[in-house]
Amino acid sequence: MKILVTGGAGFIGSHVVRRLVNQYDSYEIHNLDALTYAGNLESISDIESAPNYKFIKGDITDASFINDLFETNKYDGVIHLAAESHVDRSISDPLLFVKTNILGTVNLLNAARMLWLNEGADVTKKRFYHISTDEVYGSLGAEGYFTESTSYDPRSPYSASKASSDHIVRAYHHTYHLPVVISNCSNNYGPYQFPEKLIPLMIMNIMNGKQLPVYGKGLNVRDWLWVEDHARAIDVIFHKGDLGETYNIGGNNEWRNIDLVELICDIMDQRTGNPSGASRKLITFVKDRAGHDLRYAIDSSKIKNELGWTPSLTFEEGIAKTIDWYLSHKEWIKHVTTGEYQNYYEQQYMNR
Ligand code: NAD
Ligand code: TYD
Repeated sequence: MKILVTGGAGFIGSHVVRRLVNQYDSYEIHNLDALTYAGNLESISDIESAPNYKFIKGDITDASFINDLFETNKYDGVIHLAAESHVDRSISDPLLFVKTNILGTVNLLNAARMLWLNEGADVTKKRFYHISTDEVYGSLGAEGYFTESTSYDPRSPYSASKASSDHIVRAYHHTYHLPVVISNCSNNYGPYQFPEKLIPLMIMNIMNGKQLPVYGKGLNVRDWLWVEDHARAIDVIFHKGDLGETYNIGGNNEWRNIDLVELICDIMDQRTGNPSGASRKLITFVKDRAGHDLRYAIDSSKIKNELGWTPSLTFEEGIAKTIDWYLSHKEWIKHVTTGEYQNYYEQQYMNR
């Protein structure tokens, strides 16, 4: 099996690539990533010399590059994570999200279609797996859960671009019989997350004695999932999911933002020996995000019942592990903060 993972230098992609490289000796894993601000090869430096791994720097919006890559490598499977992923950035630059998340996905679909459907190969053995988000379903009130049959109602440029890419993936299945599978996951947290997202931002700001910006009143709710549990779900769906199907993945673990930030403050005080309550004093309520979705919550009974996947960690375990990871990876944090991580490709790969 030769598998192309896109976005493997990003947060979730790094965990997916590590898992596949370590679990499947006989697979050849190619990691394609443009190394935007969100791509960090230091996050997967532990597996970069593995014999079944190769990094390829490249952009999914470049159709001829993508077509050549598929033609040369004749991939058996694609696990597509590359995307612009931050809602706040989508509000300031929606066009970039349309280009990367929609056009980039269509380029990959076209390349897979040309390779697999022209070859006359047994397409049931091929697989195009598109990784998406629960944000495509819109915003919930106090009650209820997103299921796989919830109507799409995306409300940010980010979620609208992901919803669009989900639709086009399904359209390629119905129109061309491309062998696809999709999953929609809730908010991930854990090691190697770029500190623009809520949890690492709060941890790092506390480490630096900086204010903790909580949007609005902090009453928005997110369902948090340990990133390695997502990577395991992706492994299971890639291998066992039914073609044409969608699987929701969630942590069954809802937190109001303010409660979560207070929990992080309290654990940080314990870990660093700060006086109890010191970090909470950094909390600052700031202007709300435009169009801020109130609540996301996932019903993941389909993947549990059909594929036997369940989350492995409680949130208390996961958040403690996450905080300890950031506290013990000061070098990774320093390089992210100074921008030094962006030199890693030139330093490690250009002379190979
Ligand atoms: P991330 O922003 O950490 O990583 C995205 C990666 O994609 C980066 O390495 C970046 O360099 C790469 N990339 C961006 N544009 C590219 C391009 N044009 N060509 C090639 N590579 C490009 O994102 P993440 O949080 O790891 O999310 C990965 C995927 O999972 C995304 O598709 C996202 O929508 C989805 N998702 C994320 C979450 C979450 O909580 N983070 C939840 C559900 C689904
Ligand atoms: P985020 O991590 O950006 O993920 P998403 O927007 O995809 O859910 O944000 C999680 C929640 O935290 C969301 O309700 C917005 C809120 N938030 C803050 O209150 N302050 C912040 O500085 C950030 C980045 C997010």
